[in-house]
Amino acid sequence: MSCSIHQPWPLCSYLTPPQKLSVSSSNPKFHNRVRCTLIESLAEANPSSTVEPLLLRAVRGETVQRPPVWLMRQAGRYMKSYRELCEKYPMFRERSENVELAVRISLQPWKSFKPDGVILFSDILTPLSGMNIPFDIIKGRGPVIFNPIKTLGDVAEVREFVPQESVPYVGETLSILREEVKNEAAVLGFVGAPFTLASYVIEGGSSKHFAKIKQMAFQSPKVLHALLKIFAESMVKYIQYQADSGAQVVQIFDSWATELSPVDFEEFSLPYLKHIVDSVKRTHPSLPLILYASGSGGLLERLYLSGVDVISLDWKVDMTEARKRLGENVAVQGNVDPGALFGSKDFIKKRIYDTVAKAGRNKHILNLGHGVLVGTPEENVAHFFEVAKGITY
Ligand code: CP3
Repeated sequence: MSCSIHQPWPLCSYLTPPQKLSVSSSNPKFHNRVRCTLIESLAEANPSSTVEPLLLRAVRGETVQRPPVWLMRQAGRYMKSYRELCEKYPMFRERSENVELAVRISLQPWKSFKPDGVILFSDILTPLSGMNIPFDIIKGRGPVIFNPIKTLGDVAEVREFVPQESVPYVGETLSILREEVKNEAAVLGFVGAPFTLASYVIEGGSSKHFAKIKQMAFQSPKVLHALLKIFAESMVKYIQYQADSGAQVVQIFDSWATELSPVDFEEFSLPYLKHIVDSVKRTHPSLPLILYASGSGGLLERLYLSGVDVISLDWKVDMTEARKRLGENVAVQGNVDPGALFGSKDFIKKRIYDTVAKAGRNKHILNLGHGVLVGTPEENVAHFFEVAKGITY
């Protein structure tokens, strides 16, 4: 891996590439196996016990009897109960910034499917207004940034993010979710990664070719780095705040970093991801961090260098190959094609079994390769969870 990576902080050296764990009887994990199986049986018998959620145990590499399962965008428009709520509360920001509504929506899939993870209902863009970047999420149009950032002067107007002051409803929602879910599932928080946040703020919304942010990266990189640095510091605080409020796992979405060439990913995304992970690990060493990037097949090894605990794979990479490339130190999440949920019940089952077999018994969270698509039959989502929860390794 090239060492000429732009480093906005005096970073310590990058991690060594993934190494294979040798599994032998001298491995303490091996001796723990009987104990873990016992704990697992207890947890199954008494799901509201104080035993840690399955998802956390799986990420830590403990022996589990099946992979934990949750779905990205498991709350949303494919659900009738969500669409009904949208009629009454048509504004996305109201639905996501009001504690009662955010709790209700986060719990809709929990009540219907009992996933092993319950994700906060919010958006990666939610912190923006607290950073003096006005935005909205408009039906049929998606995110809109009212004054896209163009210059160093614009970056200077961006305010430091203080989650406690700007988004107290997020902390409150997470605390309530923890109480509601007990330890029957893990409560997940999430944030946007600096590059992906910057892409919205510079493009003015969603983008196809990312021409504006690339123009800035390649013509005035100082401006982009200044913005990325603010986002990185802000997301460190945001993750810490979410964890302190009740999130047991936090997923970092760098959905669009894969639009970058590997060399540009090393300059405009990786150092910031690494800064976030290093900083959070210092204050919250046992908080698992998941990293998702859409279409990340060309960048897997580089995503690993961020130091996260779990790499969330999309469906365009083969699970067996991804496992080989990443090694056994890191957990994986994914990676069934969200489109598979438009298939027959049998097809869905086959895809689940195939993914679980390829991922192996260790350190796997079953999920889709991206969010549940609008229009997905709700009964197919129910079937997905039923099949997944019926698995025994
Ligand atoms: O997963 C969950 O159930 C939690 C909720 C969640 C939302 N957004 C709610 C939402 C999460 C984790 C996100 C993350 C998010 N938001 C990402 C990263 C994940 C990814 O998809 O790659 C990104 C890039 C965004 C930005 C964003 N927000 C877009 C592009 C859109 C429009 C999408 C569309 O289909 O209209 C949003 C709006 C949004 N955020 C919706 C939801 C459920 C859809 C609008 C609605 O429900 O009214």
